[in-house]
Amino acid sequence: MSYTPRILAFAGSARKDSFNKRVVQIAANGARTAGADVTYLDFRDLPLPLYDQDLEAKQGIPENALKLKDLMKSHQGLLIASPEYNSSVTPLLKNAIDWASRPVEGEPPLAAFADKVAGIMSASPGGLGGLRGLVHLRSILSNIRVLVLPEQVAVMKAHEAFNPNGTLKDPQQQQTVEQIGAKLAMVVAKLNV
Ligand SMILES: Cc1cc2nc3c(=O)[nH]c(=O)nc-3n(C[C@H](O)[C@H](O)[C@H](O)COP(=O)(O)O)c2cc1C
Repeated sequence: MSYTPRILAFAGSARKDSFNKRVVQIAANGARTAGADVTYLDFRDLPLPLYDQDLEAKQGIPENALKLKDLMKSHQGLLIASPEYNSSVTPLLKNAIDWASRPVEGEPPLAAFADKVAGIMSASPGGLGGLRGLVHLRSILSNIRVLVLPEQVAVMKAHEAFNPNGTLKDPQQQQTVEQIGAKLAMVVAKLNV
């Protein structure tokens, strides 16, 4: 691959032992193997206040939200694994999307999202693996001008799904998750030649 795609990978959960952090890191490794330069972001390291339009009007966009926007603008691909909370995206993920969608002066609309490509995944101890949240996440991202890969993975029974080293016990599922990362790297590279 002559062009090196830059991919930002993160989970929609900040939880220390998050299953989704494990899933997204498997996909990130798949993207790296396919030649991408992957940055992993843990939202525990980038706390954001709950979006509040009055707060933004008074204090501007918080420093961490600007950091998130800069990170997103400097990557062409997004790898996201998120749990569903009550069948939808987590407040952490939606809050991050909302802050990153806010323009700074002179910036085109949705500069952190427009023309990005995303690979989305989920994991949950439940039987659907967070699949219903992916329906909402796909819709949100598509509406803010992100091209979302058709392939997606929902890891069900996530509390039983992983080996101690963080890989998935089911080799087929491990490969499917890695392939989401690899496909994202390939599509980003093709769109940027
Ligand atoms: C407020 C809340 C709502 C939840 N709703 C769902 C749900 O709708 N479907 C589901 O499969 N799991 C649900 N869960 C369980 C999460 O999937 C579980 O906590 C999961 O481990 C979170 O992902 P993480 O391991 O990446 O932190 C919910 C958990 C919380 C705290």
